[in-house]
Amino acid sequence: MSAQIIDGKEISAYIKRKAAEEAAVCGSQKRNPCLAVIIAGEDPASLIYVRNKRKACEECGIRSLQYAFGPDVSEGELLSLIDSLNADDGVDGILCQLPLPSHIDEAKITNSICPEKDVDGFHPVNVGKMLSGKDCFVPCTPAGVIEMLKYKNIEISGKRAVVVGRSNIVGKPAAALLLAENATVTVCHSRTVGLKDIVKTADIVVAAVGKPKFITADMLKDGCAVIDVGINRTPDGKICGDVDFENAVHVAGAITPVPGGVGPMTIAMLMHNTVKSCKMRLGL
Ligand code: GUN
Repeated sequence: MSAQIIDGKEISAYIKRKAAEEAAVCGSQKRNPCLAVIIAGEDPASLIYVRNKRKACEECGIRSLQYAFGPDVSEGELLSLIDSLNADDGVDGILCQLPLPSHIDEAKITNSICPEKDVDGFHPVNVGKMLSGKDCFVPCTPAGVIEMLKYKNIEISGKRAVVVGRSNIVGKPAAALLLAENATVTVCHSRTVGLKDIVKTADIVVAAVGKPKFITADMLKDGCAVIDVGINRTPDGKICGDVDFENAVHVAGAITPVPGGVGPMTIAMLMHNTVKSCKMRLGL
């Protein structure tokens, strides 16, 4: 038996198509949505992500503004740009690509973005709203995880979900969103004792540890759904996830590949959040 493959390219295309339709409605009624993206430094992965964000904006009919700074940009320069974008009525979403150069306090920067334009969902106001089940901007990668499960009609309510990884960007919000969907959620991390026995109980496994092939087939329950958030580079230059896909695919009931799984969902959900912001701000 082989698991059904959860195709992130197909699902992200569907999300972007819907975002494009809504962006067109905004455009016909008032104006198109607008996303401002800030990048500081020359982290190669960040440069690729930012380029792909611009491309997705073009595809969806979202105006994109890009602000690129060198690695020695000051905190003050970033804060003053964000101040002016916060005040600009024509800007719906502001995103500062992470990581920032090490001399910059990332929390200070993300907290300076006004919560109504925080399409990353990183501001404490949005984190608090998410935890209390209120409408808010939800971080794009975990939001994408939930969308994938829903698109494939994989039941979440009442199921056991195990999230492996506790980062602020993925693990913790993924756990909060699964809980909001009425899963029984366990979060595992590097200090977890008895990881295999815990993962074995899961109907849904979300792997977000950043370690290649860390989740092996013998840890999985027969027929479970496996969502692999990991993007790791192997010594031979290939991309692989946090799950040993080749073997896990014979145990799981449904599984995301890497690449082509969760990866494309992050940007699709960013488009969704930007359009959502625009509609709210325009009263549509
Ligand atoms: N760096 C890696 N992922 C993300 C993300 O989702 N948003 C931002 N702003 N930076 C990132």
